[in-house]
Amino acid sequence: MKHLITFIMLTAFVILLVTSAFTQEKTEKVKKAPNKYVGVKGCSMCHKTDAKGNQLKVWSESAHAKAFTTLTSEASAKIAKEKGLKKPASESPECLSCHAVTADVKLLDKTFDVKEGVTCESCHGAGSAYKTMAVMKDKAKAIAAGMTEYKDEAAIEKQCITCHNDKSPTYKEFKFKEMWAKVKHAAKKSEPK
Ligand code: HEC
Ligand code: HEC
Ligand code: HEC
Ligand code: HEC
Repeated sequence: MKHLITFIMLTAFVILLVTSAFTQEKTEKVKKAPNKYVGVKGCSMCHKTDAKGNQLKVWSESAHAKAFTTLTSEASAKIAKEKGLKKPASESPECLSCHAVTADVKLLDKTFDVKEGVTCESCHGAGSAYKTMAVMKDKAKAIAAGMTEYKDEAAIEKQCITCHNDKSPTYKEFKFKEMWAKVKHAAKKSEPK
């Protein structure tokens, strides 16, 4: 009898050890898998109602939506030539780094399209893990799943100047307040942001 109890306890202990090691490995894997870029369509299906600020419309009408197309312009061809780039501007990492989302192809979902230019995910982070309704409804969960958190305007400005800086061949002084007013897309229009 005594032996049987010891045996059962030992077996239970071993099972516990194995399963806990297994779940630990699983959560680590979940954490490690980087988010993929899903493209604007992966966000816009839920962010295009006027009642909630129609972020899709604001973005579509902004210069950010045209940033890739700009690289196919004559002005861009001229800049690329002056810089001695071997490829056209729209294929050069030297230009795409600010005019589109650039990431390892492994991180680009099937729905991703480089022609979308500077996208939602350029500022909010790659969205494959936070774009589900259950996660989106809970801000803390969304941030934990990789959505970029902005604590204040200084943090927002910091993100803007990762591209709006003097490495841009056409750089003009970046006046944050003015520029943010042109592209901001708050959910409630009455609520100043
Ligand atoms: C399935 C629908 C859905 C999709 C897809 C979706 N969202 Fe959301 N998102 C929501 C909902 C619901 C909220 C909560 C606020 C609200 O009710 O509008 C939200 C909130 C947000 C917020 C505000 C977070 C906060 O509370 O400050 C941001 C930013 C955001 N989404 C960005 C994105 C981006 C970027 C994508 C694409 C990668 C995306 N969303 C895809 C439904 C969605
Ligand atoms: C990933 C790079 C990137 C980030 C981040 C970025 N921008 Fe831009 N922005 C661009 C590019 C590229 C253009 C030029 C698009 C074009 O005309 O083809 C641009 C153009 C603009 C324009 C239009 C130019 C004008 O003079 O009216 C405004 C406004 C603007 N950005 C505001 C912002 C603000 C505000 C932020 C931060 C919240 C921001 N941008 C973050 C790359 C970026
Ligand atoms: C460091 C980020 C960055 C890089 C790299 C970059 N751009 Fe831009 N580009 C911007 C931003 C931001 C704007 C809009 C505001 C400005 O001109 O400062 C812009 C605007 C432009 C414009 C429109 C100017 C206008 O007045 O309408 C052209 C054309 C352009 N870029 C071409 C290029 C080409 C070609 C390359 C590659 C050789 C390139 N850019 C590389 C950030 C960048
Ligand atoms: C140039 C950077 C930039 C781009 C591009 C951009 N956003 Fe935002 N967005 C921000 C910042 C900064 C905020 C304000 C801080 C915050 O709420 O996280 C914001 C706020 C939001 C909010 C919350 C609004 C509120 O008042 O609660 C939603 C929803 C959102 N963005 C969705 C989108 C979607 C969808 C797209 C693409 C169609 C997009 N954003 C493109 C930078 C950007």
